[in-house]
Amino acid sequence: MTENPSSAKPTYRRVLTGDRPTGRMHLGHYVGSLVNRVKMQYEMECFFIVADWHSLTTKNTKEEISQLAENVRQMVLDYLAVGIDPERSVIFLQSEVKETAELNLIFEMLTTVPRLERVPSLKDMAQAAHIEAMPFGLLGYPVLQAADILLPRATHVPVGKDNESHIEVTRELARRFNFQYGDVFPVPELVVGEVPSLIGTDGQGKMSKSLGNAILLSDDEQTVNQKVRGMFTDPNRIRADIPGKVEGNPVFIYHDAFNPNVDEINDFKERYRQGKVGDVEVKKSLAKALNNFLEPFRERRAKYEANPELVDEILIEGTRRMQREAVETMALVRDAMGMFRLPL
Ligand code: TRP
Repeated sequence: MTENPSSAKPTYRRVLTGDRPTGRMHLGHYVGSLVNRVKMQYEMECFFIVADWHSLTTKNTKEEISQLAENVRQMVLDYLAVGIDPERSVIFLQSEVKETAELNLIFEMLTTVPRLERVPSLKDMAQAAHIEAMPFGLLGYPVLQAADILLPRATHVPVGKDNESHIEVTRELARRFNFQYGDVFPVPELVVGEVPSLIGTDGQGKMSKSLGNAILLSDDEQTVNQKVRGMFTDPNRIRADIPGKVEGNPVFIYHDAFNPNVDEINDFKERYRQGKVGDVEVKKSLAKALNNFLEPFRERRAKYEANPELVDEILIEGTRRMQREAVETMALVRDAMGMFRLPL
């Protein structure tokens, strides 16, 4: 065993996290992860992955693949719009870092099928995508994710609760590799967001573009006004003079989350409970607060939209940076393993 105990605990801190490119992002993404990423980039070096290969695990028709380029672009625009700073953080495209596939293959030898069958999210993903038999690649989703995380030798992985079981696989693979071949990888720490997911405008479940209950970070003023006008409130309140319920009411949940004027909110809540304010007034004020909240994002987005080459450049530059990290890590990996090399 060639374990080197001095390298077991890394002295640096590096974040890797990201998303599958599903297109434009919404307020739920913002409160659930984006706001935290913007903050973290001032505390740690951050790598943000656009995980297009992961998209293939459930969406691999030509039609679906043809949408990836636009989805990637819109997602990167949202990253930049909310304040991810490309001077500070690395944004890169997974499928252009081919070493990801090489490390994925090596990791595939270090876990077992029964272990992956115990990852609860994969069955849910298969079901949601109407897939009957588990594809090999979908079963390997957490292994590919481990390759994403460990390729830049990240030490911290901020993800939602739904990804917790995947990060456990990453940690096991890092330990397994280090034990079997020698220390190369940090055992990355899971950083779970404790914010509960944001409810949708329909009050039915969490905000999701596919459910049509989302307010997008890129929605313009009129769209926000219209979506707020159509929001679900207290269903028992058919007239403004009937006392209403504030708890669990999405209009008030959004007020609490996005309106900085606490006095105004408290006044609304009190009058709402007494049946002394109409939905229209409460919603008008919410729409205004949301528009104020989104305005800086819109401005930054517009700046980048006016300069499309700049967005390409940022993604290309970030991907090159990640490629350099990847080459370095894979040299360490092959050395540790003692892989036979050809003097090509
Ligand atoms: N699994 C993540 C998701 O659902 C996306 C992802 C791919 C990821 N690779 C990652 C997240 C690496 C964190 C780290 O959406």
